[in-house]
Amino acid sequence: MTRIIALSGSLRSGSWNTRLARALAERAPGDCEVEVVTPAGIPLYDGDLESKEGIPSAVEALKDRIASADGLVLVTPEYNQGVPGVMKNTIDWLSRPPADISRVFGGRPVALCGATPGGAGTRSAQHALLPTLRALGAQVWPGKTLYLSRAAKVFDDQGAVIDEDIDKGLVDFIEGFHRFAAGE
Ligand code: FNR
Repeated sequence: MTRIIALSGSLRSGSWNTRLARALAERAPGDCEVEVVTPAGIPLYDGDLESKEGIPSAVEALKDRIASADGLVLVTPEYNQGVPGVMKNTIDWLSRPPADISRVFGGRPVALCGATPGGAGTRSAQHALLPTLRALGAQVWPGKTLYLSRAAKVFDDQGAVIDEDIDKGLVDFIEGFHRFAAGE
């Protein structure tokens, strides 16, 4: 069984990115389990907080989940053509302390995707994550891109995917990344 963590970079209850993460999880092949997580409970990074209280328990728990998984999907929203602070803050906490970076990110297969209600599909945010992932030593999946635009036309109110072409694209994406994460 291959285990993949899908981290949505949004805290919003109606988040398109969390819906996208769930849609990928639902389409994972039988020998692949995708666990959807969000940054809920993770505070703003503060070096004083880290010095006084150490790594927050929500961060430690997420670090352990990623470290024990075969792959990580970052499902990022896009704000002002960049990575939303909530997503970057989460990655920054996950990189603490530096001695743990290789356990969490080193050689870790990472796929990038994201959703927007407009036309951009998070292309800029995904590209902006690349230097960070390189700095952390992750292995970015070069297989497929997933820039999901016009999200309101893709999902219904229950989060089901109503666009057949997108449905097939999501299956291809998670099947392809599953093979990469499994080392095939
Ligand atoms: C946005 N949004 C946005 N969309 C986009 O395609 N490119 C952008 O640069 C921006 N910029 C931006 C800035 C700020 C501050 C906000 C709040 C929003 C719209 C954004 O894609 C939309 O709010 C999504 O719904 C956010 O993702 P979730 O929360 O639905 O997952």
